Amino acid sequence: MSYDSYDEMPGDEANPLRGLSLDELRRRTSAKWRAYPPDVLPLWVAEMDVMPAAPVARALTEAVALGDTGYATGTAYAEALDAFARKRWGWDGVAVERTATVADVMRGSVEMLKLVTGPGDAVVVNPPVYPAFFGFLEHEDRRVVEAPLGPDGRLGAAALEAAFQQATAGGRRAAYLLCNPHNPTGTVHTRAELAAVAELAGAYGVRVVADEIHAPLVLPGAEYVPYLSVPGAEDAFALLSASKAWNLAGLKAAVAVAGPAAADDLARLPGIAGHGPSHLGVIAHTAALRDGAEWLDAVLAGLDENRRLLGELLERHLPGVRYLRPEGTYLAWLDCRALGLGDDPAAVFLERGRVALSGGLPFRTGGAGHVRLNFATSPELLTEGVRRMAAALP
Ligand SMILES: Cc1ncc(COP(=O)(O)O)c(C=O)c1O
Repeated sequence: MSYDSYDEMPGDEANPLRGLSLDELRRRTSAKWRAYPPDVLPLWVAEMDVMPAAPVARALTEAVALGDTGYATGTAYAEALDAFARKRWGWDGVAVERTATVADVMRGSVEMLKLVTGPGDAVVVNPPVYPAFFGFLEHEDRRVVEAPLGPDGRLGAAALEAAFQQATAGGRRAAYLLCNPHNPTGTVHTRAELAAVAELAGAYGVRVVADEIHAPLVLPGAEYVPYLSVPGAEDAFALLSASKAWNLAGLKAAVAVAGPAAADDLARLPGIAGHGPSHLGVIAHTAALRDGAEWLDAVLAGLDENRRLLGELLERHLPGVRYLRPEGTYLAWLDCRALGLGDDPAAVFLERGRVALSGGLPFRTGGAGHVRLNFATSPELLTEGVRRMAAALP
């Protein structure tokens, strides 16, 4: 398929989530589209059913035309992030000299955690949370200490304090891997909540690494507060990336940002960490941040519509499901316990309804009886997904 002009690409410019047919989507070879048989509608892994933003497609095409497919270098990505953060969030904390371009958010988070903890040390997380957190931490021989979110999906000071106490017992070093906004609940932590985190972390000497990959995906009604912008967070790290908001997970790159009091720690980052980011990833992410705000706004409007539509569809077809209306991300955390489908309702929806959702169990505490639904698709496919879920009920 070739397009003389990016205006001719399939998809709908006013709403990038509309206009791609199921046949077109099924030609994709990424995880979302290949993990299940072709009769299954995939609404699981965090990929969006969109065509790329035109500035991103253009930058990539130009790079390929030039043969510019070598190694990544320089600070262009961090500079673009700095400019984007100032304009969009009024945040001037992305000091390019305190950044590192890393392979992706997970490997960047691990690198930051390795700067401030050692093998056997504890890392606090807030389940239910993105399952890869557990896999990466355990692979690096870190002890996971859980501070579960409340039933409302929000951070709780008491749970955090108990976890910080446990993590630092015996005078050990400890860290906290914060997810802001939170996957899977779509919770966007408030300034007051984050200030309370910083105060507690300071009191216990716990170092914070904030995974802010979903930051550009905050929906109307909520406001993203960069963790590094709250008082007391000066010795923290944040990981940001264009990968979720512009659907660039296959083009690996992310930026690690150190607070002013973490600059010396970041300076100890081993040179090999710079081997990870893909040059095409850096080009794509940089173009997204520089020239992709209009496209992002169109996606956010479409996601806001889908968030409302999903609420209506669930009320009509699956009234037993409790829908925690997300404030950000394109992920919906659905409490299916009242449906009587057991601990793993995703298995039932897949088997009987031919719709793939993420099962809640790998999100650990609070995950049983839940599923995560990815609503970054067309309203038609979202409607079909809920219809299939309803058809799976006994
Ligand atoms: C909270 C969170 N962190 C990290 C990732 C993965 O990002 P990356 O591919 O940059 O490691 C995801 C993907 O969905 C995510 O939701």
